[in-house]
Amino acid sequence: CGESGAGRLLTLTEIVVQLTAHLNSAEQCLAGKKVMITAGPTIEAIDPVRFLSNHSSGKMGYALAQAAYSAGAEVTLVSGPVAMSAPAGVTLVSVHSAEQMFNAVQASVQQMDIFIGCAAVADYRPESVQSQKIKKSPEVMTIQLTPTIDILASLNDLPTKPFAVGFAAETQNIKDYALGKLEAKKCDLIMANHVGIEGTGFGSDDNAVTVLGHDLQIELPKQSKTMLARAMISIIADTYKQRKL
Ligand code: C5P
Repeated sequence: CGESGAGRLLTLTEIVVQLTAHLNSAEQCLAGKKVMITAGPTIEAIDPVRFLSNHSSGKMGYALAQAAYSAGAEVTLVSGPVAMSAPAGVTLVSVHSAEQMFNAVQASVQQMDIFIGCAAVADYRPESVQSQKIKKSPEVMTIQLTPTIDILASLNDLPTKPFAVGFAAETQNIKDYALGKLEAKKCDLIMANHVGIEGTGFGSDDNAVTVLGHDLQIELPKQSKTMLARAMISIIADTYKQRKL
């Protein structure tokens, strides 16, 4: 296609990011650490041509993968379908459904130091997937949905659990709901953000979050997801190191 291929020069942005990652050792707060990040939406098949999904673009998760890599981490990015390429240097595991994402996470999460659940995992999937395309009819149709596995919460069943960071995208009572998730899913940190506000959240290039932990609350105001990811990685690295002390 002339756009990608072996030997082709990286984009200017990628060259700058790679150089920054390797030259700026002062910012290598995750040097030698293994970080797994889930990103993007999951898609849950209804039949061979239809699915249930959500508006996640994957931008926040991919920015976190880039920031963690720049901070010296070995990064595994488990991603649902998005319209972006993985940052150079990051190991990409592509999945579609919540079940595939769960299996990909379980395959190597025990070797990780830090897990960041940034994916907008579908909470429900159709109970059965039709093998043939469902034909249109004038009748009202009901699709029976069944809950998916909670990937983040499932880390609590592991014999060795990595430092766990969750996201809580809410449209109301953000802090209360986020703190509820911090406790329910036994995360070390949760990134709470208000979705549904123009210019932040799903699909947008900017975002604003409140970082909540046990005895910790930090407001990260609206900024580019690239900058926000760097700030989040710095807080994650600090809190992870304190927990290890
Ligand atoms: O409960 P809720 O979906 O709002 O929780 C959001 C957090 O849980 C995010 O970190 C998300 O990646 C994670 N999650 C998950 N598996 C699910 C649902 C959510 O890992 N099935």
